[in-house]
Amino acid sequence: MIELIQTGDVLHLRNAHVSYAIYLLEGGIPMHLYFGARVDSINPNAVLRHYDLPTDGHFSMQGCSLDHTPQEYPSYGMGDLREGAFTVRRFDGTRSADLRVVKVEVVEGKPALPGLPATFGDNARTLLLHMQDALLGLHAVLSYTMFEDVAGVIRSVSFQNESDQPLVLERAYSLSLELPDSRWDLITLSGAWSREREMIRRPLTMGEMRVSSLKGATSLHNSNMLFLARPETTEAQGEAIGAALVYSGNFTAAVHVDSHRTSRMMLGINDVDFSWTLAPGEAFHTPEAVTVYSRTGLDGMSAQFHTICREHLVRGQYAHAPRPILLNNWEATYFNFNEEKLLKIAETAAKVGVELFVLDDGWFGHRDDDHTSLGDWFVDKRKLPDGLTHLADGIHSLGLKFGLWFEPEMISPKSELYAAHPDWCIHIDGRERIEGRNQLILDLSREDVQDFMYHAVADILASNPIDYVKWDMNRNFSNVGSALLPPERQKELPHRYMLGLYAVLEKLVQRFPNVLFESCSSGGGRFDLGMLYYMPQTWCSDNTDALCRCRIQYSTSLVFPPFAMGSHVSAVPNHQTGRITPISTRGNVAMSGCFGYELDLNSLSEDDLNAVREQITRVKALRTTLLYGDFHRLLSPYEGNDTAWMTVSRDKREAVVMYTRAQALSFTYAPLLTLRGLDETLSYRIEETGETYSGAELMQLGLAFPLPWGDAASVSFTLHAVE
Ligand code: GLA
Repeated sequence: MIELIQTGDVLHLRNAHVSYAIYLLEGGIPMHLYFGARVDSINPNAVLRHYDLPTDGHFSMQGCSLDHTPQEYPSYGMGDLREGAFTVRRFDGTRSADLRVVKVEVVEGKPALPGLPATFGDNARTLLLHMQDALLGLHAVLSYTMFEDVAGVIRSVSFQNESDQPLVLERAYSLSLELPDSRWDLITLSGAWSREREMIRRPLTMGEMRVSSLKGATSLHNSNMLFLARPETTEAQGEAIGAALVYSGNFTAAVHVDSHRTSRMMLGINDVDFSWTLAPGEAFHTPEAVTVYSRTGLDGMSAQFHTICREHLVRGQYAHAPRPILLNNWEATYFNFNEEKLLKIAETAAKVGVELFVLDDGWFGHRDDDHTSLGDWFVDKRKLPDGLTHLADGIHSLGLKFGLWFEPEMISPKSELYAAHPDWCIHIDGRERIEGRNQLILDLSREDVQDFMYHAVADILASNPIDYVKWDMNRNFSNVGSALLPPERQKELPHRYMLGLYAVLEKLVQRFPNVLFESCSSGGGRFDLGMLYYMPQTWCSDNTDALCRCRIQYSTSLVFPPFAMGSHVSAVPNHQTGRITPISTRGNVAMSGCFGYELDLNSLSEDDLNAVREQITRVKALRTTLLYGDFHRLLSPYEGNDTAWMTVSRDKREAVVMYTRAQALSFTYAPLLTLRGLDETLSYRIEETGETYSGAELMQLGLAFPLPWGDAASVSFTLHAVE
């Protein structure tokens, strides 16, 4: 049950897991009181006393200094000297805003968020704080949704210009969350191509800590999410708060610790290249931000995010269905293929049980390398003389589904499209058009370009039997300018790009409900909750080295469940690191996600091919548990030589445990893994050893096993509940 309890000036929103409380100061400024474990009642006095400093006359409003007041949505320019969550410029060029609550509304369910990806679900209630700045003529609505099954709140803000002059939003974050202390560690996910989402943990200190992207996409380099953990918090216990943006473009994620050691966490669209002109009567909606709370460590925090992903964000027929085991030809052939070569790979794939064959880059235009043809989405008859349908039919006749790679947001300067429409790319007149991977980005703020992109993909999907699309995006923004936007709206381009992309994606997923879409951006450069709304899985990283993948998948799981992560077995020596790892290790690691292969199976030894056959049989048997079970991280590759994680089926009757040791060590004890998430009253039979232990034993004493020899040694166990 979700309740809004209004007692005096306190608004207390709660479900069975968490409470969120707001205090309406005299005059209607909403002060933040509390976000944490559910409490029965809230007396605001404790928090009010905590912040009760002698006020400085200059910055006193209604008897309190905003500079010392935790606020729900702090503004710039009204006496709070910290960074605010939004800034509005009015016709005279001045910038200050003074929003006051004028109405409190509670609605059942969750209102839609026009044009943006958003969480959904019936078991929800939403608190809407309507606010008004009379001088500006600005109406804003702060939205707080609670779902029954999530220990968290979904926040967003919408603005409406009710004046007769334009207003310009120069900053409009989705979330500001103030905490009464700073005794937290901040965890962020940062990295680079092929080493995405490294987990970085450091104590909060006075000042500001920020990760951001101005790359036009969430990026390989920083993720649009923040996690706070008490210094003593571990995977299994302690307090943690997580926030993640449901968005895929430029972002800022920051925590400011002020001179009184309170913390302000902010998340939203990066304002370095953002502004939005609201003509009279117009509205603007921020993307939404998910905030979750846990008293059971990072593991408990991730469980909340995973529920959001599984129950409230992923859509379509694959949302809760087994994902096909795929083979992608990229590392098998790169650009060098023809129909015969592809069918040979597919034949072996079909024989060992693969279910989907994916043709990656290089099938269109004249694309023999990455210098040409993006935008020319017609089949390259040199490689596929009989066309795509012929190839797809050939693949289907082997009993496999057929998938295709696109990079629809891009344009190669060497392309027919560019020759015809040189102004369709993002560019600035007079500036050199800086290329990234020899390509430019289409200007998706333009409706004609959106239409082109929609048809480029839709026409191929409509005229060929295609079951899966890998949607790639391989370069970042530069020279950010649009040929059509007027000067005062150029800073709208990055967000308009996202709105254009989302509009096209929405049309495509609605028109092709049977196609499975996988998002990719040079690997995991757009791993965010926004893309998950359109595409139920995302390629984790171009790095498929099993040890690197331990790190990448471990940290990705902080927010994303296994069903969101594309993870494949590739050839050795690995194409990104040169490392040789056993096929068993590659299989065990890749199994904890949307499983597949990224190699030519014909190049494997008979032994390895048999191993592949066994892996596929096992994944098919365990797929529901592996993809949709409850995921627990057990040992962190960021803390030592070992990685371990496990998934437990929702009914707790089946579990799969994965353990990998990076470097071989001699004369060490066998690992003893204390498991999590099992039913302590049940007994479990371990398929691989034949032994039976109680859930309590496995979670308290641990699971012991001898480890195979060598570097990158891995084991995986299947547990079945026995009567
Ligand atoms: C990106 C993707 C790869 C592959 C190549 C093709 O790098 O991440 O998986 O599709 O593009 O060019």
